[in-house]
Amino acid sequence: MTYSSKGIAVVTGAAGGMGSHIARRLHADGHRVLLTDIAVDAADAVARDLSPDGSTARAVELDVAHRENFVTTLADCEQVWGTPTILVNNAAVTQAADLMTLGEDDFNRVLTTNVDSVFFGCQVIGAAMAAQGYGRIVNMASLAGQNGGTATGAHYATSKGGILTVTKIFARELAGHGVTVNSIAPGPHDLPIVKATVPPDRLDAVIAGIPVGRMGDPSFVADMVALLTADNAHFVTGACWDVNGGLYVR
Ligand SMILES: NC(=O)c1ccc[n+]([C@@H]2O[C@H](COP(=O)([O-])OP(=O)(O)OC[C@H]3O[C@@H](n4cnc5c(N)ncnc54)[C@H](O)[C@@H]3O)[C@@H](O)[C@H]2O)c1
Repeated sequence: MTYSSKGIAVVTGAAGGMGSHIARRLHADGHRVLLTDIAVDAADAVARDLSPDGSTARAVELDVAHRENFVTTLADCEQVWGTPTILVNNAAVTQAADLMTLGEDDFNRVLTTNVDSVFFGCQVIGAAMAAQGYGRIVNMASLAGQNGGTATGAHYATSKGGILTVTKIFARELAGHGVTVNSIAPGPHDLPIVKATVPPDRLDAVIAGIPVGRMGDPSFVADMVALLTADNAHFVTGACWDVNGGLYVR
């Protein structure tokens, strides 16, 4: 089965930050975009900006921490537009934490939100994509999952390492069904969450420590998502694309 570039994209965590850049880029490419988030009002504002009548962009509430919510969102999408052709597992909780006093509840909450979401997103929506014989999945990992993290907590870094592994597992499983699964590992980007996580008096030092001397541009990550989810991206799967200003070279 072949698909035109006009597909159906589901983006998690699309209310702001990186997710809204990705949703806007996919919409500009002609895809219909389902913007999902727990902050549904903010996601709805982005969706209305893109498509005032809701015909090409809609917002729905999706708490990615629970598998059944992906089942509900898939059913909603299938009823209104059809089976998704693109899934961007972007939602995450980003937190700093002291390593040796990090408690069980915080650790489990960040792990559950960040890893379960990607796992069950790939499982539930990946199965529907496999059944239709086409799909493109991009999972938002992080430099923290590769280097152990610096500004962010151990729970966040651990979760992002897990996402890299989940990506490989589903890439292998779905490759024979026309579905690719890749991850992107960004370093610090010029986004509100970075300024919320890094204390203001440390931000200049963090930027000075980046080999290219500046933070990343989220619109470029959106471009990467567009490239990885294009029809002709069929030969890239199980990969992690780094975008970290030279902070981690491998
Ligand atoms: N900003 C960066 O520099 C950077 C660097 C590396 C990786 N990343 C990754 O990129 C992605 C987006 O980052 P961001 O900067 O936009 O972060 P952000 O915190 O600004 O946005 C995350 C979004 O996810 C949503 N969210 C949180 N918990 C949720 C849940 N349980 N269910 C549904 N939605 C939920 C939030 O409401 C928010 O809209 C994340 O996966 C993050 O780990 C970002």
